[in-house]
Amino acid sequence: MFDQLNALPADPLLGLIGAFREDSNPDKVDLGVGVYKDETGHTAIMTSIQKAAKRHMETENSKTYIGPGGVVGFVEGIKQLVLGADSSILMDSRVSGLQTPGGCGALRVGSEFLSRMKEDLTVWVSDPTWANHIPLISAAGLKIKTYPYFDNTTSAVNFDAMDAKLAELGPSDIVLLHGCCHNPTGADLSFEHWQRIAERANKQGFIPFVDIAYQGLGDGIIEDVKGVRYLSSQVEEMLIATSCSKNYGLYRERTGTLLVQTKNASQAKAIETQIQDVARANYSMSPAYGGFLVDIVLHDAALRTEWENELNSMAVRVKSLRRNLLEKIEQRGINKDFSFITQQKGMFTYLGITKEQVQRLRNEFSIYMADSSRINVAGLNTHCLDYVADALKAVV
Ligand code: LMR
Repeated sequence: MFDQLNALPADPLLGLIGAFREDSNPDKVDLGVGVYKDETGHTAIMTSIQKAAKRHMETENSKTYIGPGGVVGFVEGIKQLVLGADSSILMDSRVSGLQTPGGCGALRVGSEFLSRMKEDLTVWVSDPTWANHIPLISAAGLKIKTYPYFDNTTSAVNFDAMDAKLAELGPSDIVLLHGCCHNPTGADLSFEHWQRIAERANKQGFIPFVDIAYQGLGDGIIEDVKGVRYLSSQVEEMLIATSCSKNYGLYRERTGTLLVQTKNASQAKAIETQIQDVARANYSMSPAYGGFLVDIVLHDAALRTEWENELNSMAVRVKSLRRNLLEKIEQRGINKDFSFITQQKGMFTYLGITKEQVQRLRNEFSIYMADSSRINVAGLNTHCLDYVADALKAVV
């Protein structure tokens, strides 16, 4: 039965982990997978999370199941973090929530939930979008199409083109939006764009599905969700997939939530059972550990402040790496405008170089990035900036 099987090509992003590890060049630079790294290239556990883990270890006295929804305090904490503690939608109990195995789990459960709701739904994703959106969503049985998003000539969002496409959509369409820090381009929607999208959603009847994996790594914890909160205040129904991989550094603990906003509290209750049922049919229930830690951090005033400060210093450092990289590039007089690097948000920037140039950077300089030329800015540090800028000059 298995004789005909061939090995699949490596995952476009996760495959970079192994390739980088095997490279023996001491100058190698990993700008591939989106993980935050400090000045020494290490992805440390956040201090607030370490303290929460210690507290959790001292107090946890059972490993019995905690129920299909996951850690209740965690899910409630994330609802408030994303939508605001004063959100009238939350006060009206219009949002159901589920702890999921990371943001991927949330996207997958959300997609399967949608495919149960209605036949023939199409999910529209930005062009380009995060490499794993398409396999995750289409594996749930939904059709995928793209809407125009990134303009390669301006290295910014082409909102007129996006808006024109949204104007063609209807009630059988779902529009996947990146809540902030667009992956892979770093080009974010402005608040005015979010306002327009809300108007379009109401007029055309499509459902927004927001993927937010970088809250706090752009302009700030609240600033980064301004658009999402506005959208939530304007539309009746929407889905939100959140991840705690980056902003709590919980990558391998696979910690996320799926939130589904609906018209009223009784629908929200019904939906909660539906999304739990999708999870049950897939993996039963989410691992709880990461949720416990985030619950502790979010509900202890001192730990929460510590986490906010840690997250803020990560975001500040990424911004300064953007400025430093641009400065180094400009010092070398490279014949291409890279000024967009400091305008984009979050951990990623799309360098806009060719696949051949990306390959040369990998083969000749051991600098690893996605084939699309997306770099993880958080993988840079002051030691490697000159090396990266020199290499760019050599290939561009
Ligand atoms: C990325 O985009 O590099 C990260 O979100 C890691 C992943 O799972 O792809």
